[in-house]
Amino acid sequence: MRLWMNEQEQHTHEPLGTAVLDYLRDQLGLLGTKSGCREGDCGACTVLVGARTPQGVEYEPVCACLTPLVALENRHLVTVEGLSHGDLGPVQQSILSEGAVQCGFCTPGIVLSLTGYLLCATSLTERQAIASVAGNLCRCTGYESIRRAARALVSSLPALEERGPKRFAQLAALGAWPRSFLSIADDLPLVANRQPPARPPARGTLVLGGGTDLMVQRPSAVRGSRIVLASSLAHSCVQKRGDDLAIGSASTVAQLERSALLLEEVPRLSHIVSLIASPQIRSRATVAGNLVNASPIGDLAILLLALCSKVCIESPKGVREVDLERFFLSYKKVDLRPGELIVEVLVPRRGPRRLLSFEKVCKRTHLDIASVNSACAVELDSDRIVNARLSAGGIAPVPKLLEATSQALVGSDLHSIDIAALTKTAQAEISPIDDVRGSAVYKRLLLGRLLLAHIESFQKQQRFSGGHS
Ligand SMILES: Cc1cc2nc3c(=O)[nH]c(=O)nc-3n(C[C@H](O)[C@H](O)[C@H](O)COP(=O)(O)OP(=O)(O)OC[C@H]3O[C@@H](n4cnc5c(N)ncnc54)[C@H](O)[C@@H]3O)c2cc1C
Ligand code: FES
Ligand code: FES
Repeated sequence: MRLWMNEQEQHTHEPLGTAVLDYLRDQLGLLGTKSGCREGDCGACTVLVGARTPQGVEYEPVCACLTPLVALENRHLVTVEGLSHGDLGPVQQSILSEGAVQCGFCTPGIVLSLTGYLLCATSLTERQAIASVAGNLCRCTGYESIRRAARALVSSLPALEERGPKRFAQLAALGAWPRSFLSIADDLPLVANRQPPARPPARGTLVLGGGTDLMVQRPSAVRGSRIVLASSLAHSCVQKRGDDLAIGSASTVAQLERSALLLEEVPRLSHIVSLIASPQIRSRATVAGNLVNASPIGDLAILLLALCSKVCIESPKGVREVDLERFFLSYKKVDLRPGELIVEVLVPRRGPRRLLSFEKVCKRTHLDIASVNSACAVELDSDRIVNARLSAGGIAPVPKLLEATSQALVGSDLHSIDIAALTKTAQAEISPIDDVRGSAVYKRLLLGRLLLAHIESFQKQQRFSGGHS
């Protein structure tokens, strides 16, 4: 397999499921990329991966511990060693000046995350710079100095050029990006935005989306198996298809966030996406992976349930479509047979009067899994709800569509909903259990509050859109 590693082209015969972290540290002896949790939680292993697109090279931060080597084929891998070229660049300098280092274990990851932010940011803002390190934990500093470093970095730099080659050249002039990396764009083959013909996986292969679930649960199986990337079997775009949006099953959460079409359907998309995992995980985690993983609190699953989605599944026998609420059979069991591949998720496009609300409660805002999450979509005729879909996670063995509660909403006036009665209906539909994310009693209480939050959100959205005085 061929990749570009910092300044050099490299070939490797390592198993394709080897974690990039092990390749760097054990095979190449590059110890700057740190090994912390190996579960995507700490960000100490953050590296940048660049893929050539028609617009230029797009770099994304990923966790090296959860990225298999095969994902680097024909990509540019950037580690902290590659950024060290004599003098300190503005990212390192701001970290040093603000005292944002103590033991230094988290520092390479933070340097890579902030550098990735400079490469991809739409504009420089303190809020976005701080958000770019949301996936990097630090056990020593207490974070205030890291926030100061992010702010100092933003205020020390001039306005950035448009994303792309001009930006890279500007960052190279500022010492934030090695000059030697500028020419790598010419060497990298075009790999992104491919649209492979959908085809089921060959027998005996393990389908890998982003690996953010599989490489946590079964790392040795990934390393020891014949793996095939879902992105080589199914597309990763969002397209209009008749009355639906067709979301390629290999789309990553980060790709969803960049889709203008999806943004039309889900106006608060950026906010919702920011609540899912971290920038590093969002660069890798795919839509199909989120559904097949079948976590009862999967955020995309909950969102897509409320949006009335269907799963398109391909096998040698042909294609079948399954309503998402029928796809989840029981705890971690889905309606997917051996040899089948999810190729797309179909989302009906919204009418002019559809409102959507998404809520997620967890112990911290970023990089945390929900105790309870919920989404609700309603269609209105004036103030009357004519259609409703309410989904919730963390309250049953599967991500669940609350059918009776959705029905109970239909016919109600948005401004005089009987919340007590609605909550009672919802309570009869759920069966939460005590676990590390909260007691069953707490989760029941949370769902009631989230129903209220949905209704308040709808009323607010309607006021802002001028639909209600
Ligand atoms: C640190 C961390 C934080 C996380 N935070 C969140 C969070 O906030 N919210 C959330 O919802 N999830 C979260 N997750 C869980 C996980 O990232 C998501 O569920 C993710 O979407 C899984 O996608 P993947 O592509 O990485 O899955 P993979 O690990 O690649 O695959 C998961 C399963 O799906 C199968 N599969 C993949 N693609 C296909 C396909 N096209 N057809 C058939 N089968 C397929 C694989 O064979 C495997 O069985 C987090 C994970 C980590 C490690
Ligand atoms: S080692 Fe912690 S995220 Fe990779
Ligand atoms: S400085 Fe020690 S972990 Fe951040």
